[in-house]
Amino acid sequence: MKVVAVYSTKGGVGKTTAAVNLAWEASKHFRVLLWDLDPQGATTFLLQVKPKVKGGVGALVAGESKVGRAIRSTAFRDLDVLPADASYRDLDLVFDHAKKSDRRIAKILDQVASDYDVVILDCPPGAALVAENAVFSADAVVVPLVPSPLSMRSLEQVTEFVAASVSKARVVAFFSMVDRRKTLHRATVADLPGAERSVTDVVVPATVQIERMGTERAPIGSYAPNSEAARAFGGLWEIVRTTIKPKHAKPRR
Ligand SMILES: Nc1ncnc2c1ncn2[C@@H]1O[C@H](COP(=O)(O)OP(=O)(O)OP(=O)(O)O)[C@@H](O)[C@H]1O
Ligand SMILES: [Mg+2]
Repeated sequence: MKVVAVYSTKGGVGKTTAAVNLAWEASKHFRVLLWDLDPQGATTFLLQVKPKVKGGVGALVAGESKVGRAIRSTAFRDLDVLPADASYRDLDLVFDHAKKSDRRIAKILDQVASDYDVVILDCPPGAALVAENAVFSADAVVVPLVPSPLSMRSLEQVTEFVAASVSKARVVAFFSMVDRRKTLHRATVADLPGAERSVTDVVVPATVQIERMGTERAPIGSYAPNSEAARAFGGLWEIVRTTIKPKHAKPRR
């Protein structure tokens, strides 16, 4: 089982959008679990899953409830969700009180290691224990970059964060919400991929088709498969796939 954390220290840059679409792309060939780690529950909402975790995430971390019982299937084959509810607001505190507080996510995922080939973590923004846990468990950390100086700073922060962890995760950054009418966006997208090794040439445009995910409550590839944005996420998954090299632990259902 390989783990991909979609993460940035910065909020609102397209993490959830990427997590949902990468998970959908991955589920074409692999058994995928998408874990919503954000109490806002955007991933949970977008895949039409009920935001309810029996006993709360505290019981999950304490080992009092089994992760398998909290996982929900979605309308999409081989794509399951571990939903978030309001109890995730306290996740940092819950981790803080636990033993080996930066390894709890990895420990929980051990329970389902033979059930999934790929796990995608939709992380909240910030650099708290939730992020430390996600990075520790990850084989790759996917970072959306809105082309601006501040986002580049957040890439540096994520890179430092991963380097400071014992995690061997590779950082894979891509451009998110790109508006080619803006000079700064065009210039950044043209200059950065060569200059910074972890920055791929994947460009996800800012489009209304992605905004529609909120009303369709589905991955873009399911309702606009030929759109530029859907193709960009397909290309991003290919890069992530070759980075993490997932294996089929079992024949597909
Ligand atoms: N490429 C895009 N084009 C247009 N809208 C987008 C694009 N990517 C994301 N959005 C919209 O921007 C908003 C923020 O995106 P998203 O929720 O993916 O960001 P996030 O990084 O997960 O935010 P948070 O830090 O709050 O978790 C959402 O309403 C989403 O629909
Ligand atoms: Mg999000």
